[in-house]
Amino acid sequence: MNALISEADRYVVIGNPISHSMSPFIHADFAAQLGLPLQYERVLAPLNGFAQTVAALKAAGVKGANVTVPFKLEAFALAKVLPNSLTSAAEFAQAANTLKFNADGTVLADNTDGGGLCRDLDRQLNTLGLHLAQCQVLMIGAGGAASGCVSAFQQAGVQHLTVLNRTVPKARELAERAEAIDLPSAGGGLDTPPSHFETPGAPVVIVNASSSSLKGDVPVLHPDWYQRAVLAYDMMYAAEPTPFVWSLGKLDLPCSDGLGMLVFQAQLAFEVWTGASPNALETLTKVRQALLAKAKQP
Ligand code: ATR
Repeated sequence: MNALISEADRYVVIGNPISHSMSPFIHADFAAQLGLPLQYERVLAPLNGFAQTVAALKAAGVKGANVTVPFKLEAFALAKVLPNSLTSAAEFAQAANTLKFNADGTVLADNTDGGGLCRDLDRQLNTLGLHLAQCQVLMIGAGGAASGCVSAFQQAGVQHLTVLNRTVPKARELAERAEAIDLPSAGGGLDTPPSHFETPGAPVVIVNASSSSLKGDVPVLHPDWYQRAVLAYDMMYAAEPTPFVWSLGKLDLPCSDGLGMLVFQAQLAFEVWTGASPNALETLTKVRQALLAKAKQP
């Protein structure tokens, strides 16, 4: 083979289902921006065949993988047994969304979901003259999506984290785990007012990390949270406003869905794999257009 012609490095996204994934679109755009010969495909893994799928991809020379529902816990478990394979974000979440298969046979497992969220929050706060490090976060939900973000909040220097959840013990447990990594935190039920916690006077960023929007539900918070808030963010996204974003439409409060988080978590994965950083905002504009166009199709 001519040494000047390098084969494209192969990357994949593994999930079940996977046909809906926008990751190939996003990574193709990143690669085009930077002129990198990168090939990125969707891989549907059988529900009981994640480890075998990863082994086959590695053997075929694939350099890295994004991992999505329902395999993020399995991706973590797979890497956990290997030495020096976990980032602190993956360790805290006990879940991985990014795998890098190194040439020496080692594997790196990362979780870029929380870092992607923080980049998008910071981008939007900057337009308000604020930084995430000045703010406190009220996070709704205490499941997998929520725990995927805590380490990133700590690394971003968030002032305080309040976790509110329908099932209160789960909120308290996640807040205790956040405290253990030196992020001042408290947990409670959805209707707990901000005055219940001795939170600092920092501006509040509300993040909906619950899966309520999937069911068309909106978690009902004490109204004082909205009075203190500067930004509300739903980790879910859709062509139409999500139920959470829609429900806040009457308030004079900037609201966002989670499409930016999707693109920024991809930007972080791309950096892990290639060391290069594409312009995520440029890609976000195109992804939003693609999402709207798809929704208009009969
Ligand atoms: P994921 O991985 O998407 O986070 P999960 O681990 O099952 O999924 O967690 C779902 C989260 O959304 C939980 O915090 C759940 O609250 P409970 O712990 O009380 O079950 C929350 N959730 C789901 N539906 C909700 C709803 N309709 N209103 C409020 N919270 C909801």
